Amino acid sequence: MIYLRDYTDSKLSRVLIYSVLALLLVSGIQCRRAPANPTGLITEKAMVVSAREEASAIGAAILESGGNAFDAMVATELALAVAYPYAGNLGGGGFMVYRKSDGDVGALDYREKAPLSATEDMYLDSLGNVIPGMSTNGATAVGVPGTIAGVFEVHRKFGSIPMERILDPVIALAEKGVVVTEKQADRLERYRDQIIEISGEETLFYTKCQKGDTLKYQSLANTLKRIRENGRDEFYRGETARKLAAFIQEKGGFITEEDLASYEAVWRQPIIFNYKDLRIISMSPPSSGGVTINQIFKMIEPYDIGDYGHNSAEAIQLLTEAFRRAYADRNFYLGDPDFVEIPLDFLLQESYLRERMSDFTLDRATKSEAVSHGTVEILESAETTHYSIVDAMGNAVSVTTTLNGAYGSKLYCDELGFFLNNEMDDFSSKPGVPNMFGLIGANANSIAPEKRMLSSMTPTIVEKDGALWLVVGTPGGSTIITAVAQTILNAYEFNLSMQQSVEAPRFHHQWLPDYIIFEPDGFPERTKDLLRSKGYEINEERTPVIGKVDAIRVLPDGRLEGGADPRGDDKAIGY
Ligand code: GLY
Repeated sequence: MIYLRDYTDSKLSRVLIYSVLALLLVSGIQCRRAPANPTGLITEKAMVVSAREEASAIGAAILESGGNAFDAMVATELALAVAYPYAGNLGGGGFMVYRKSDGDVGALDYREKAPLSATEDMYLDSLGNVIPGMSTNGATAVGVPGTIAGVFEVHRKFGSIPMERILDPVIALAEKGVVVTEKQADRLERYRDQIIEISGEETLFYTKCQKGDTLKYQSLANTLKRIRENGRDEFYRGETARKLAAFIQEKGGFITEEDLASYEAVWRQPIIFNYKDLRIISMSPPSSGGVTINQIFKMIEPYDIGDYGHNSAEAIQLLTEAFRRAYADRNFYLGDPDFVEIPLDFLLQESYLRERMSDFTLDRATKSEAVSHGTVEILESAETTHYSIVDAMGNAVSVTTTLNGAYGSKLYCDELGFFLNNEMDDFSSKPGVPNMFGLIGANANSIAPEKRMLSSMTPTIVEKDGALWLVVGTPGGSTIITAVAQTILNAYEFNLSMQQSVEAPRFHHQWLPDYIIFEPDGFPERTKDLLRSKGYEINEERTPVIGKVDAIRVLPDGRLEGGADPRGDDKAIGY
């Protein structure tokens, strides 16, 4: 220090030091803004990144044979229903955010909805207590599926090749079968007893699977063939609808033919906001993803997180405090916009978000009791799936789709060949439980006939300098939003390649419970110690894998870099 001061006494040295500092600053900024060298798959024109190689391959083949990103969306979505029944589905729902090559953006909501017979207290006993398992397991947990309506709506509006050409390779895959990977064999083993308990010993999944086995899905192929012949209405009004409604009711569930016949996918205005020189386009309610990620980015914008260091204690602190505040609002205000008034103008106002962070300091943690709104812990399950697509024309789609739990409700319809969701559990089964301030939280997400349950799915597209830059999303229940935020920041603020951004260790905080969870092995003890010393709780017992991000980055020369998450069997394929 003295040494430094001695030198700074001389004018020449001061000039030298300022010059070096200026150089460091400029090169630092340039370094952060200069595009990272790619480390993921690079392709010249088009790419699909999804949870399974078979699905990415089918989507990419559609692109290569002249289909556009929307045709490939239909193919990839349905191929995941075959190759990844853990989360891919015909019996679930999802959200798509798109950006066309001309810059037009939009979003499709094909989320499941509550049946017509649903009531606010349908999962409560006579004493008003939640009946364990009723909204999570078996037929009573099933919401009206939206996936087939979703893919047909996408194709109707934007498709460029006939539906038969898209469905044929998917049907062929179901008939030929899918080779079981090690991760898939583990998952099937983990959930086998529950699937058998709910779906019976006659179920396809009764037989134990080993890595390398081939699973064929003839019933699913037959259902898809009928859909190929009869179109969307086969699922909602035809033989499939009749069989599906009868099956669910026979198993004690609520969904009727009328419920299926009245299902519609809905086009929504996405949430769009700027973060520095990025323009971020994400999913609007009934997903909480876009609103919450918008709040997070606006709360951190005034701080130069890029200078804090990737996954440094300071960066974790800043993000944790933004996550905490955004999730508190998420739990209280958000629900199906067709049923509840969501004060978006207020929630997304910059002055409100700056005010929200006004008590943030790097010296110590804010306690969640001090941050108002909601008491309901987010208990959404992590078993969803995401895929990202860019076509040769520059159209991009970002899609997250789900059955909710692993294999959904575990109810497999053997005659039709697919699992049914347990999405009813994403509603607040017991709204009206007062929070610590006596506020009635979660009413916005209470159950009502034909209402859509709140989601965390965050399919997102990012523009930089007005051009397509990133397509990104992940499964992970309530951790989806924080994982997507971290992936974008990894690429933008910390200058990681797309693949590195996806691979980087992640952490999560969601206001309540008031602790941070870290992925295993990714964060040094000294970082955690520093956080503890500032009052942060760390849950050492829960160190789950957080998300499986599948993303695409457009490189400055127009080529594409894939980010396929090694936490799963995820794969980028393109040409
Ligand atoms: N079921 C997970 C979600 O919608 O966020």
